[in-house]
Amino acid sequence: MTNRTLYIVVCGAPLASRTADGVKAARANGWDPYVIPTEAALPWLADQDLGDTPVITGTRTPDQPKRTPPADAVAVVPMTFNTLNAWANGSANTYPLTTLCAALGSHTPTVAVPFAKHDLAGHPAWLASLAVLRYAGVTILDPHDGSTSSTEPVASGTGTQVSSSFEWSWALDRLA
Ligand SMILES: Cc1cc2nc3c(=O)[nH]c(=O)nc-3n(C[C@H](O)[C@H](O)[C@H](O)COP(=O)(O)O)c2cc1C
Repeated sequence: MTNRTLYIVVCGAPLASRTADGVKAARANGWDPYVIPTEAALPWLADQDLGDTPVITGTRTPDQPKRTPPADAVAVVPMTFNTLNAWANGSANTYPLTTLCAALGSHTPTVAVPFAKHDLAGHPAWLASLAVLRYAGVTILDPHDGSTSSTEPVASGTGTQVSSSFEWSWALDRLA
């Protein structure tokens, strides 16, 4: 059976340090992963072994062929406050955001793990943007336990610990 294509969109927050684990778990679950990092996520990826997983950065030029097959599913792990709001507002001025907006518009199954501290999550855009994404069919997972019923911000100083405890099966099982 042909593997299905999974786009893993990675934003600039501590949980980006678990991308290599996500790639391995995805492969073990029958996915062909493509990592699509934001510019801010790149420092977290620098020392990770992603094997031969394609990492798609920047925007292709008009004469370049498409760099990925169409996605069967998308995982946004982690999703920053910035990307959450831009995506919900329909901003598509980077490759990751264009990818996310297109996934939403084409009803591609998508899970997203918001990862932001209380100060950012206290901004009214946090709840509004999460509501937009949920309404559009995105499965939103709490980074602490994978719950879909509520999404708690990450307490200051616990980002590393929450990232270590994160289980990729929480996201991949939702896309199975
Ligand atoms: C060490 C560090 C940790 C950060 N942690 C978070 C975080 O947990 N959540 C968040 O929304 N932004 C966090 N940021 C800020 C984002 O990286 C920043 O808003 C960036 O513009 C997000 O861009 P992106 O959405 O394109 O990835 C962090 C930045 C740094 C340098």
